[in-house]
Amino acid sequence: MEQVNINQDRLWNTIMELGTIGKTENNGVTRLSLSEEDLQARKYIIDLMKEAGLEVRVDEVGNIIGKLVGMDDELPVVLTGSHIDTVVDGGMFDGALGVLGGIEALRTIKESGVTLNHSIEIVSFTDEEGARFGSGFIGSKGMTGELEEKYFSLTDKNGVSYEKAFENANLDFTNFSLAKRTKESIKAYVELHIEQGRVLEMEDLPVGIVTEVQGPAWMDVHIKGQADHAGATPIDLRKDASLAAAEIMLLVEEIAVKWQGVATVGQMEFKPGNANIIPESVHFSVDFRHTNKQKRDYMEHDILNALQEITKKRNVDFSTSIQMKVDPMKCSSNIVREIEQSCRETKLPVFKMKCGAGHDAQILGKITDFGMIFIRSKDGLSHNPQEWSSKEDCAKGTQVLCHTLVRLAK
Ligand code: HGY
Ligand code: MN
Ligand code: MN
Repeated sequence: MEQVNINQDRLWNTIMELGTIGKTENNGVTRLSLSEEDLQARKYIIDLMKEAGLEVRVDEVGNIIGKLVGMDDELPVVLTGSHIDTVVDGGMFDGALGVLGGIEALRTIKESGVTLNHSIEIVSFTDEEGARFGSGFIGSKGMTGELEEKYFSLTDKNGVSYEKAFENANLDFTNFSLAKRTKESIKAYVELHIEQGRVLEMEDLPVGIVTEVQGPAWMDVHIKGQADHAGATPIDLRKDASLAAAEIMLLVEEIAVKWQGVATVGQMEFKPGNANIIPESVHFSVDFRHTNKQKRDYMEHDILNALQEITKKRNVDFSTSIQMKVDPMKCSSNIVREIEQSCRETKLPVFKMKCGAGHDAQILGKITDFGMIFIRSKDGLSHNPQEWSSKEDCAKGTQVLCHTLVRLAK
């Protein structure tokens, strides 16, 4: 393999610079999809891709695509990518590493003069997190043709619709179907990402090769009781939505343990929300995940049973809707092998592992061969202002990505 050594300092500087956009007072990052902060970050990425000498375009769902043209641009492209939108008060490496590492890899390949047959594209996908509108993987679903028009009527907590947010970003959502790519047009997809867990740190390893990705599902739950006076209403006469929600939250944890999956109630809102009113309604989210689709279905079944039982017992009503459901996916063995070869070339240990978080990779995995490269997360923390990866590990992961892209594009 020709020498294609990424520039560690240049990469690190871009991570630090992007990390200043949407910085919060406790050193986290909030860049919700298509927010002012996200638009600022999108401009930074476009400028960086241009500076790297890539052909840059924005597709019909807002994916920012930088292309390094190969000898035969008719051949299926090799894709890499991730996201620059974040959760509220998240970290500065989640998603950003994959986009900035991809740009650094393509810039290095271009500077090295190595000739490649296939073109390579780095993609910054729109709204991977779903933190603003409640349903994620929008850009990658747009690219694979999975996006539906109904997503654009979703609104954020200020009542701003996706449609409006697209308009505000000079995007016309009515053309979203044009973003779809055919299976034949893509050769493979490789994503570099922080692990967001503790495994690599416990193994004291900088880099890991992902073999399978857990499948996230989001259920929206509304429980309807009866508003009443907090002082004058005897306990046994109440239709208290909040206590039903409390019981269900604990059952959600029991169901996750029973099926060896994970489940989280991350959002909850009481209405009307005064201290001296028995809540009339409670609206909350249930994020439930498993590496096995069948077991995740069993989890969903048990959650719905628990809702039936508890709301009946407490004489309240409920309704649910599934906001997002992405299947667990096994990475393509040929891509795992390519990444393994890259680890050997870069004198790094080969360590295979599962992935707990959801990624654009498992959306692209529905139309092309895909793999993921992980780097170590300090204390395993992510979706937390203290999310951190070292300069050296970021460089090592990017070097492995670079080697993998060169081999796939030859
Ligand atoms: O939720 C996830 O797993 C990812 O951070 N979007
Ligand atoms: Mn995330
Ligand atoms: Mn991510």
